[in-house]
Amino acid sequence: MNEIEKIDQTKIFVKEILSEAEKGHDWSHTERVYNNALLISEGEDVDSFVVQMAALLHDIADSKFHNGNEEIGPLRARDFLQSISVEKEIVSHVENIIRYMSFKNSLEDQSEAFSSPELDVVRDADRLDAIGAIGIARTFHYGGYKNRSMYDPEILPQVDQSKEAYKKSDAPTINHFYEKLLLLKDMMHTSTAKKIAEERHEFMLKFLDQFYKEWNG
Ligand code: NI
Repeated sequence: MNEIEKIDQTKIFVKEILSEAEKGHDWSHTERVYNNALLISEGEDVDSFVVQMAALLHDIADSKFHNGNEEIGPLRARDFLQSISVEKEIVSHVENIIRYMSFKNSLEDQSEAFSSPELDVVRDADRLDAIGAIGIARTFHYGGYKNRSMYDPEILPQVDQSKEAYKKSDAPTINHFYEKLLLLKDMMHTSTAKKIAEERHEFMLKFLDQFYKEWNG
C-alpha cells in the first residue's frame, strides 16, 4: 500500500468508527480538522503524511466518551496503523500527537511533554473547529448531550482550573466560552491558524453580547 492508499484506508476506518459518535465529535468534525490541517500545513515545514494520519485518527476514542481514559485513543490509533503496516517511527509520532493535543493536557505542566511541528498543525486545526460559528454549535450540542443548563448567572466561570476540575465540570454551557473557547485564540501555534482564529474569536464575542442582551430582555 502506498501513502495515498493508506490515507484512504484510514478514512474508511475512521468513518466507520465515528458513525455512532456524539455529533459534535463525528466524522464531519474529523473531516473539517483534516481539511484545516492541510490548509495550515501549506505554511509549515511538516511531514504531510503524519499530519494527515494524526488529523484523521485524533478523535477515534476521545477520553470524555470513555470514562476519562486517555490511553484508549492513542492505543487504538497505534493498533490500526500497525495493521496497515505504517512504519514504526511514524506510528509513535502519530500516537504522541493524539496523546498530547487535547486542551486539558495543556492545563498540566508541559515541561516534560512531547512537541513537534506536526502536533502544532493538528492541534491548531482541532482548536479552530472549537471556535467561531461551528464552535458555538458544537458547544451547545455537547451541553445538550450532557443536559447542561445553557446559562446560569449564579454560577460563575472558573478560569485557571486544574485538569481534574475541568474534566469533572458540569457547569452551564456559556461558562465553557470563558473556561476554554475564548482562550484558544492565544494558544494557536501556526500563523495561518492565528489569522483564522481572530475572525472566529470576534464572532464569538458578538454572539455572547447578543445572548446576554436577549437573556436580559
Ligand atoms: Ni477533535
